[in-house]
Amino acid sequence: MKLETLLANIVHYCDVPDDKGASHLPIYNTATFDLKRQQGNDRIYDYSRSDNPTRNALENIFSRAEGGAGCTCTNTGVSALALLFDVTLRTGDAVLVEKDCYGGTYRLLDVLKEKNNIRTSYVDFSKPDEVEQVITQGDYKLILCESPTNPGMKILDLAAIAALAKKYGILFAVDNSLATFASQQPLGFGADFSVFSTTKFVSGHGSVTAGAIVSKDPDMVKKVRYLSNAEGRAQSPFDAFLVSLGLPTLPYRMRIQEQSTLKIAMFLATHPDVVQVKFPGLPDHPQYDLAKKQMKIMPAVFTVNLVSESKAEEMIRKSELFGEKPSFGSSDSRMEIPSKMSHATFSEADLVKIGLTRATVRISVGLEDTQDLIDDIMHALK
Ligand SMILES: Cc1ncc(COP(=O)(O)O)c(C=O)c1O
Repeated sequence: MKLETLLANIVHYCDVPDDKGASHLPIYNTATFDLKRQQGNDRIYDYSRSDNPTRNALENIFSRAEGGAGCTCTNTGVSALALLFDVTLRTGDAVLVEKDCYGGTYRLLDVLKEKNNIRTSYVDFSKPDEVEQVITQGDYKLILCESPTNPGMKILDLAAIAALAKKYGILFAVDNSLATFASQQPLGFGADFSVFSTTKFVSGHGSVTAGAIVSKDPDMVKKVRYLSNAEGRAQSPFDAFLVSLGLPTLPYRMRIQEQSTLKIAMFLATHPDVVQVKFPGLPDHPQYDLAKKQMKIMPAVFTVNLVSESKAEEMIRKSELFGEKPSFGSSDSRMEIPSKMSHATFSEADLVKIGLTRATVRISVGLEDTQDLIDDIMHALK
């Protein structure tokens, strides 16, 4: 079955029985369930922190869409990452992370270093020989990367990293927030986990913060669910419902946004105030062929280096259609300067290491008319 068909009728495919024939996911906004009134049901619900039919429905759909053995939906994307670290790492363990990753991942790993002496090495996964050398020098338990990387827009070879992880007996997780399962399925390339923020494209309307973690190993699925309950990371039924509203249109939204992004990126690439555009959908992107092979749809996010920091600030200030907001994947277009938001704590030297400058702007393209967006940028750069 094609993903579009699964997502168009999630209530039908979610494996959570509904004897009323609802046309969309019902919200079970309840903390507790009466055990006596569920006699004869396959699954007995008691407390919504552990299980809730609305959240379970979403989990079953995500698990199918990612090709996993099970999924746990969390209250934020960061919570899903925290569960990943909790389930795979013990005090003193080491983790290998792509150096161009979401700023919040750095922050979370800093907290875990303080608390549990979790040691993190940041590497460039587009250089497999260097990575293998690092692996042989440490006892790593987990590899985590994003592809495309955020905000650097690098494409990493997920099958090659999975093979490396397997060779050295290391678990491999991909943060799939940017691409989403509508574009790529990391488990199909050999990853053990796909972790993602559903705050972004998946919910798609900027109405909720939420996350999910999918594993291909049924034992890991059980462990994650146990920890989610123990640590209280569960997504609320109402938030699960909000996320579900974005699902039927996800692949369609992403394809329209991709087309818009390509046109805007091409326009900016020829603009005199622009030094560089990084979008994997442009043929001059260094990993264009890999991007085409790995992703069905190019996610509508890219970075642009302006001639100066003041030009970058001016473009954002003068734009009327792009809000200055964090996050991406929503119906409305956004711009942000990563060095001031997601990577605000980075030193100049650390910014350079991941290819960012103070004049780098990350652009997330929404569902507005493409020409309106181009006209707006043209005006902002005048
Ligand atoms: C790649 C990536 N992963 C995870 C997260 C965290 O998601 P959330 O904001 O839903 O906690 C973000 C947030 O921007 C992100 O960009």
